[in-house]
Amino acid sequence: MSNTKTIGVLTSGGDCPGLNAAIRAVVHRAAELEWKVYGIKDGSTGLACRPLAYEELKTEQFDGSILRMSGTILGTINKGDPFAYEMPDGSVKDLTENFSEGARELGLNALVVIGGDGSMQIVGNLCKKAGVKMIGIPKTIDNDTPLTQHSIGFATARDICVDALDRLYATAASHHRVMVLEVMGRDAGFIAIEAAIAGGADVCLVPEINYTHEGIFKTLRKVQERGRSHALVVVAEGVKTHEGKNVSVFKDDDGTQRYGGIGDYFAKSIEKELGISARATVLGHLQRGGTPEPYDRIAAAAFGVHAVDLIAQGKSERMVGMQNHTITDFDLEDVMSIGTKSLDPDNYLVKTARSLGMYVGEE
Ligand code: F6P
Repeated sequence: MSNTKTIGVLTSGGDCPGLNAAIRAVVHRAAELEWKVYGIKDGSTGLACRPLAYEELKTEQFDGSILRMSGTILGTINKGDPFAYEMPDGSVKDLTENFSEGARELGLNALVVIGGDGSMQIVGNLCKKAGVKMIGIPKTIDNDTPLTQHSIGFATARDICVDALDRLYATAASHHRVMVLEVMGRDAGFIAIEAAIAGGADVCLVPEINYTHEGIFKTLRKVQERGRSHALVVVAEGVKTHEGKNVSVFKDDDGTQRYGGIGDYFAKSIEKELGISARATVLGHLQRGGTPEPYDRIAAAAFGVHAVDLIAQGKSERMVGMQNHTITDFDLEDVMSIGTKSLDPDNYLVKTARSLGMYVGEE
C-alpha cells in the first residue's frame, strides 16, 4: 500500500504573525515525504463552500518572502458557527455535510488546522462530526490555547507591546505623565504581564487578578514620593471596571463583546485622583501585524514539521505544542475540554512582577 498522502492545511480564527511560517513548514515536510498539500481558503469555509476554495501548495511558492510576512496567505475567519451558519439569503444551515464532502472531493487523508483555543473547539468538533482526521497547531497572540506553553504569534505581539512601552517611556518622562497602554489578550493576561515586566511598568492589570483603585493609586503615589514624576501602566483589554463590567463599544452580530476602552477608564481615574496628567494608548490590531519575530517562526517551523510527522505515524485528533522547550503533542479532546488557558495568579511571572515593585492587583 502506498504511503503517499494528500493533506489539507487551513488557518482559522484571528490572524497573527507566524501563520505563513507554519504553512511553509507543513508544505516543506510534506514535500519531503512526497505528499500533496492543499491550502484551504478562509478557514473551514473553503471546504464547506461551493465551488471549493483551495489551492495546491508547493515548496517553490515559499521562496523566503512569505516566511517574513504576518497575516495568512490562506485567509481566515474568526466568526460564524459551522453548525448553524447564516447563509447569504438569511437561512441557517449546518455545514458539516458540505465540509465532509469537500474533504472527500479533495481526497484529504488529514487536515492540519492552525488555530487558537476557539478554533480547536469549533473546527475540532466539525472534523469529528464530519469524519475528517485533524491535527491542530496552536496559534494566537493571546497565548491562551490550553496545555501548550507557546502559541504562534504570542512572542511577536508581546514584543510589539514592549516596543510601545519603550516609546511611551520617553514621552511619559518628558511630560511627567502616566501613560496607560491597553493591550489585547481577550480574557487572558499573558501579553500584559510579559510586556509589563520587559517594559518596566509600575502597574499591570490582568483579567485573572482582582485589583482596587486604591492599590493602583498607592503604587503611583509611591513612585512620585521616590522622586519619579512619570509612570507606565499596562492593562489587558479584558480587565473589568470596578463595577465588574467589560468596557466595550461594539457587539458583534453573534453577540460577542469586542473589548476596548479600559485603558482610557484607568487614565481618567488616575488623572482625577492623583491630579497628574495621564494618557491612554490602545495598541489594538497593530499587535497582530509586523514581521514575525524569530521565536514565533521557530515554533511555527517545529509545529508544522511535527504535525506532518504525526500524520505520517497515522495519528489524528492531536494538537502539537511546546512544553519545557520541547515539541510535544496533546490529545485534542483534552485541549477541547479545557477550552482556554488563563494566567495563574501563582505563576512565576506574577511573583516576579510583584518582587519588582509592580502592582499586579491584590494578592
Ligand atoms: O484572539 C486574538 C484577538 O486579537 C484578541 O486579543 C482580541 O480580543 C480579538 O482577537 C479581536 O478580534 P477581532 O479581530 O475580531 O476584532
